[in-house]
Amino acid sequence: MSRSAHPAGPRHADVLPEGHYHAPPADLNALDEKVWAHTVSRNPEGVVTVGGREVTQLAEEFGTPAYFLDEDDFRSRCKAWRDAFGSDADVFYAGKAFLSRAVVRWLDEEGLNLDVCSATELTVALSAGMPAERIAYHGNNKSLAEIERAIEAGVGRIVLDSFQEIARVAHTAQRLGKRQRVQIRVTVGVEAHTHEFIATAHEDQKFGIGLAGGQAAEAVRRALQLDSLELIGIHSHIGSQIFDMAGFEVSARRVVRLLAEIRDEHGVELPEIDLGGGLGIAYTSDDDPREPHEIAKALGEIVTRECEAARLATPRISVEPGRAIVGPTAFTLYEVGTVKPLPGLRTYVSVDGGMSDNIRTALYDAEYSVALVSRRSDAEPMLARVVGKHCESGDIVVKDAFLPADLAPGDLLAVPATGAYCRSMASNYNHALRPPVVAVKDGQARVVVRRETEEDLLRLDVG
Ligand code: LLP
Repeated sequence: MSRSAHPAGPRHADVLPEGHYHAPPADLNALDEKVWAHTVSRNPEGVVTVGGREVTQLAEEFGTPAYFLDEDDFRSRCKAWRDAFGSDADVFYAGKAFLSRAVVRWLDEEGLNLDVCSATELTVALSAGMPAERIAYHGNNKSLAEIERAIEAGVGRIVLDSFQEIARVAHTAQRLGKRQRVQIRVTVGVEAHTHEFIATAHEDQKFGIGLAGGQAAEAVRRALQLDSLELIGIHSHIGSQIFDMAGFEVSARRVVRLLAEIRDEHGVELPEIDLGGGLGIAYTSDDDPREPHEIAKALGEIVTRECEAARLATPRISVEPGRAIVGPTAFTLYEVGTVKPLPGLRTYVSVDGGMSDNIRTALYDAEYSVALVSRRSDAEPMLARVVGKHCESGDIVVKDAFLPADLAPGDLLAVPATGAYCRSMASNYNHALRPPVVAVKDGQARVVVRRETEEDLLRLDVG
């Protein structure tokens, strides 16, 4: 699902089997800064380091598989988004990409807001001290209990996703004697160029209220009539891992048009629009993501232009990047267990994790890069597939990769750009113990989410 899924580059069809791989890189020891966290490099001894720590030491201290998160990189991406959007806009980090208390504290310190989509994400955020008014609460089927929790906590906004929810939130707020700030999530009818499972603005899917057919206008009508709701704006999220700005521009244009219709019908100018998250990151060297300042400029210009045309005051813009902040900041470290050459095909390299710590390859056909990180190797490149240890042939971590032909059990491999939607979508398949997340900064490494233990799993098994 990365843009590089079907590269036009050389296929080596005469020597290699069918596949979507690229030409072997000129130097297998090189680490493309596009896909690795900022502080990652290979030291003169050939060992890769992050935040000043060698991966070999980290593996010894924390075990494998494990996610290592570059704190400086995370903070610098927060700053880049905040600076790009400036004081006239708000950046909400999408906690679904990866959420922990340490991350919440970093976000708070860096001046970002937070988007949560479950009561438990809200609990994590509040327990780490994120002020409730800087939290947006999302979801297409929030339970009454969740709605009550969010309103009681005083979240800054609830994003309404259906007609039932408009009534539920209004009723709950009224019962609690509160007036809740809300946005209405609309479906703008954009076909985002990404994997079907993570595109969210075409009409035939579960999120939002359709602009087409006047449903969104009707939702606005209802919300404006309810005293316990303060409708502050319109929300649109078109999908995830998107590189093409065209979809965001169409979305912004349609949202502004709705604001103009609302002004014409109700005499009310809603003060905010939220254009969601979804910016793509580089998983392989072929991906060229947009920088936050380019995105801020493109969105700002389109909104200003459309508002001028409609004679509307420019609303405050918010965005909700998740992957673009945390994705590139972490890698997963694995130890090689077996190396199995299949003559004429490829070499299967089994590592000590798999689809339980990264489901994205199996679920979205996602592409990843991988490197031997515990040593340098000048061996020839071999076509490899990095697989996990689960009982399933679809348990693939990196579908096609070139690794040095002298790869052996005990070597450490790292898969970069696993900060988003890997730990957060990790499972206990085959009773795998979910790996820890270790934050690394200035030569210090500390566990921010610990590894699960057998006791953790047995505690749940009460039969
Ligand atoms: N805002 C809303 C309302 C969302 O639904 C999402 C993601 C985001 C923001 C953040 O999107 P991001 O900037 O991270 O792309 N599990 C999939 C991604 C699902 C995204 C769901 N919503 C994956 O691994 O690619």
